[in-house]
Amino acid sequence: MKIFVCGFGTVGQGFAEVLHDRGAMLRDMFEEEAAIVGAMDSRSYAYDPSGLDPMALVSRKKESGKVGGSGYSDSAEVLSSCDYDVLVEVSPTDVKTGGVGLKNIRCALGYGKDVITVNKGPLALRYRELVDLADEKGCIMRFEGSVGGAMPIINLCTEDLVGERITSIRGIFNGTCNYILSKMDKGQPFDQALKEAQQLGYAETDPTNDIEGYDSACKVAILANAVFGRDVTFNDVKITGITSITDEAVAMASSRNMVIRLIGEVTDTKLEVGPRLIPKGHPLSISGTLNTAQILTDLAGPVTVSGRGAGRTETASAILSDLMAIMDKRCRSRWAGSSSTIPR
Ligand code: HSE
Repeated sequence: MKIFVCGFGTVGQGFAEVLHDRGAMLRDMFEEEAAIVGAMDSRSYAYDPSGLDPMALVSRKKESGKVGGSGYSDSAEVLSSCDYDVLVEVSPTDVKTGGVGLKNIRCALGYGKDVITVNKGPLALRYRELVDLADEKGCIMRFEGSVGGAMPIINLCTEDLVGERITSIRGIFNGTCNYILSKMDKGQPFDQALKEAQQLGYAETDPTNDIEGYDSACKVAILANAVFGRDVTFNDVKITGITSITDEAVAMASSRNMVIRLIGEVTDTKLEVGPRLIPKGHPLSISGTLNTAQILTDLAGPVTVSGRGAGRTETASAILSDLMAIMDKRCRSRWAGSSSTIPR
């Protein structure tokens, strides 16, 4: 399995480290090597069809700020001239246009390559187009880490809960806002809490995307499309951020045994992100940078998950699970018709 990583920033490097760590396990499970053959950042790329050393890529990036020795002017040109099976697209997200991530995903799918992405912009703006392109080309596009980071949600709903009628998903999908609101619960001012969230590496490059609710709205749109089969974009979400929440409002909520949390909500008809009053002790009243989601289903009842919504290794863990699903499928088709059993 030849992997090309586009966007060799924090998450890309985390993925390289995780792949290095789990390489032997993948080989044992799927009788196939998972090798990074290409890696690209905003200025450079490295490519070797026989495989690159993931840890050497991480070191080079750390030392020189560049992942490779070759420059480029058009990422799509590089992607179309390299041989790989799966694109891991983890470029910085652009929620206005889809940015370079959208271009890279379109390019890879167009050439019949499978895609794993955690890039929210392309999925929140062009979901249907990308899914249709993947179908047309007979390839797989998976994006577990795009919502909730390490918290299982997309594949949980579409695979594990596949037989359920899911009536709603409500959740906390932005760690930065949750960190700020839970610090405000303790009397800390908004600006100071935001600064801390930025220092922790949770906030987006432009934190407006977090505090105005745009990041949560992208995730709500992705869930609506992937889980509810809707055809919506980020622009269809009714969004209210947390910038107008005052210390007084937080104190007033607390006096009623409530907290204020930024909640994203998706149903067949609803698509909203906004601050909501949540009773203390309720699963959606969590503090800190965690994400959480309550999935209401008809047979299983409410299913609640929580986990780390961002982070180098945490997000890479979601990419690993998508990679393993793709490797599993390839392994099964290799073994189809064979009299031997799959090596597990
Ligand atoms: N800025 C996001 C957050 C990162 O704070 O949750 C994960 O999408």
